[in-house]
Amino acid sequence: MTNPASKTILKALAGEKQAVPPVWMMRQAGRYLPEYRATRAKAGDFLSLCYNPDLAAEVTLQPIRRYNFDAAILFADILLIPQALGADLWFVTGEGPRLSTITTPDDLKALKPVDTIHETLNPIYETVKILASELPRETTLIGFAGAPWTVATYMIAGRGTPDQGPAHALREADPATFEALLDLITAATIDYLSMQIEAGAEVVKIFDSWAGSLKGDDFTKYALKPAKKIITALKAKHPNTPVIAFPREAGNGYIGFAKATGADCVALDNSISPEWGAANVQVDGCVQGNLASRHMVTGGQELRDETKAIVKAFENGPHIFNLGHGITPDADPDNVHVMLEAIRG
Ligand code: CP3
Repeated sequence: MTNPASKTILKALAGEKQAVPPVWMMRQAGRYLPEYRATRAKAGDFLSLCYNPDLAAEVTLQPIRRYNFDAAILFADILLIPQALGADLWFVTGEGPRLSTITTPDDLKALKPVDTIHETLNPIYETVKILASELPRETTLIGFAGAPWTVATYMIAGRGTPDQGPAHALREADPATFEALLDLITAATIDYLSMQIEAGAEVVKIFDSWAGSLKGDDFTKYALKPAKKIITALKAKHPNTPVIAFPREAGNGYIGFAKATGADCVALDNSISPEWGAANVQVDGCVQGNLASRHMVTGGQELRDETKAIVKAFENGPHIFNLGHGITPDADPDNVHVMLEAIRG
């Protein structure tokens, strides 16, 4: 049996500072790896890969084999919840996701009830089970979901948007429909993450990639409160499972976010300096981050220096090293080794 207390990620999430911080990368299973591209080709397309437990487990394990990261993140997508709720979802190569749009009370009524999502999402729980048995004993398995606001921005617009304009427009024009959609996603997310934990996820992460476009009171209402609701419900059922929250580009909104939501760790993007993050966020507990993804493309001495500067800035408290956002398809896989060497020596 693995002794969970010996896992470096769990130690950090319990508030322990470590001489060498544990490390993993957002989007660590992805197109920058030739073995990922080969497995995706075998699956046919991205969504077929997500719903094929053997192949999804395989791509989750690929970066662990190559880099021996301290955590593996389940291979899936935040947009599987809208699909499980009945939205159409497809990916346009080179452009990104497309969904049927939800903008009226009738659109909302046409979605499926929350208790039916597992019919679609069962293969994801199968992937988690395979991973729980196949991962090296020292590697922590992270499950995840999108935060309600970020998922809603895609459901309302039917695609990714640079400024989340359509979601902000619905929030202003029809707050009742907007809030009912957020509540539906919140309820589905609680069930989805609970099932991932029951299948073997040891940590869960909530991605609020577009939290930065919510300002002032809207940030509190639509980023902080839904996160608190999800975390409170998860902690009631699974009190020992740590939660990482990622309200990306929250700026001052990062301050006090862990305390206000009950999150065990706040993931920081690279728009803030690590020194600011240490002084304002790490004072409350574990933080994750925050190397700019572009260093994985450019590499060299700048990558080494910046990695070491981040480790140093966070050395006086609990820290999980990560990027500030996902690694991009044009990253050089060798640069990951350069980063790991700078962290682990
Ligand atoms: O390795 C991992 O991090 C685990 C798997 C994972 C994916 N997506 C796989 C993926 C995770 C955790 C996500 C989260 C996700 N998905 C987010 C939140 C994090 C973030 O990046 O801000 C968002 C907003 C999405 C929605 C999404 N999925 C978009 C906008 C896109 C297209 C853009 C792009 O990068 O191509 C995806 C596709 C996607 N999700 C890919 C992967 C590996 C690329 C698909 C492919 O192989 O063609």
